[in-house]
Amino acid sequence: MSVGVEEAPIPESVPKSQTVLLLHSAKDPYHVTKDYLVPSEYNDSEILVKTHTIGLNPIDWKAPDFNFGLPELPYIAGRELVGQVVRVANDHSRLHIGDLQVIVVSSDYRDLRKAAYQEYVIASDFNVAKLPPQISVTNGAAIGVAFVAAALSLGVCLGADFSDVVGGPNLFKLVREHDPELLPKDVRSECLGGISENDRAKEGDWVAVWGGSATSANLIVQLARLVGLQVITVVDKAKHGLRLSNHTALRPDLLVDSYDPERAIEIIRANTKGKLRFGIDTRGRDTATHLLHALMPEPQLVNGHATSASHDDAKQPKVSAHLVGLTGLPKEAPPAGVTFHTVPIKIFHDVPAVGETLVLWLERLLEQGLILPPEVLDVEEGFEGVNRGLDRMRKGEISGGRLVVKI
Ligand SMILES: NC(=O)c1ccc[n+]([C@@H]2O[C@H](COP(=O)([O-])OP(=O)(O)OC[C@H]3O[C@@H](n4cnc5c(N)ncnc54)[C@H](OP(=O)(O)O)[C@@H]3O)[C@@H](O)[C@H]2O)c1
Repeated sequence: MSVGVEEAPIPESVPKSQTVLLLHSAKDPYHVTKDYLVPSEYNDSEILVKTHTIGLNPIDWKAPDFNFGLPELPYIAGRELVGQVVRVANDHSRLHIGDLQVIVVSSDYRDLRKAAYQEYVIASDFNVAKLPPQISVTNGAAIGVAFVAAALSLGVCLGADFSDVVGGPNLFKLVREHDPELLPKDVRSECLGGISENDRAKEGDWVAVWGGSATSANLIVQLARLVGLQVITVVDKAKHGLRLSNHTALRPDLLVDSYDPERAIEIIRANTKGKLRFGIDTRGRDTATHLLHALMPEPQLVNGHATSASHDDAKQPKVSAHLVGLTGLPKEAPPAGVTFHTVPIKIFHDVPAVGETLVLWLERLLEQGLILPPEVLDVEEGFEGVNRGLDRMRKGEISGGRLVVKI
């Protein structure tokens, strides 16, 4: 539990106990558990939210199935929700009791008080965005995690500057102005040294998103378009072709079918004239490796044989290429001229200045209709509905949007 946490009175309207979903061991379903204590220890930036609708994320089924990301057992999972504020941090808070409704992004998976699979959830106020009235609770529960992952991938890993998009963050600058000692150690080098000023993604540059049907890809594409990047989306066109080609917010500059990866790489190289420098993969190691090949120069023929071209040869731009892996990166070390990135998601909850600038920007983007929430494919009901929903995700039934659960 974080420093400065103290016992605080629970507001009268809040019961002492609640229903939660507990995971007792890996590979088990989550168990509906009544009479579990409502969290009652807060630090001075934390609020209490009554859960209304939970957004289901792939990590919620992958963590128990593959036994990772479970810091303790029994465990409470759940990374995003929409709910109502029932306790504020202090009198000066920008959030108010009764605020209906707020988006909570719970990236801090080690802190069970903040997990979404419970009736009452603690959240740092800088991880909470007010839901504008024009966005439904259902849609609001589907956007938070994807938005944060997209903003950090583009803004920190690729250096895109959002300042001209309704005063969005210049995350490249923001993390460098921060006391380096206060950036979490394991993401410090990604934040401070992942990309140089010269390399930063700017208007007109291409970015390719492999695994373009993912909810995170949805937000990556929308934010990339807002800063004037040219977008390539790689998807199974049989599943997603028409939807993405016709979509006002998601239509990419180039839509590429993923069925034959070699051909996809060829198409990307040919259309970008070998100038693609930025790639974000949402699926895993294999597709991240394909994307790496799309970033690299075409193999050169020497005496009739293909050789692996290097970024040192004369044809290469002086700037480097950058590959972000949301789920994995190629096994091999990055070749010369390419930098691999992982998303420093924890700065959202560990660095208040980053969390706050992102949630306030999210509020403005939604209010002004500059981004659309991802599609909600279905709504399950009650805590029992979480297991049902996660089973549908395990079976691969949920594609191109989110499943949410109304509690
Ligand atoms: N590193 C980070 O900080 C971070 C942050 C957010 C997300 N992530 C990770 O990024 C990845 C994408 O997350 P997301 O929330 O954007 O994904 P998502 O919207 O839930 O789904 C992504 C795509 O995966 C495919 N899919 C669905 N069920 C599947 C299954 N059972 N097995 C294999 N593929 C399946 C579907 O694509 P098709 O139907 O087109 O095949 C779906 O559109 C996840 O691995 C997630 O954990 C990482």
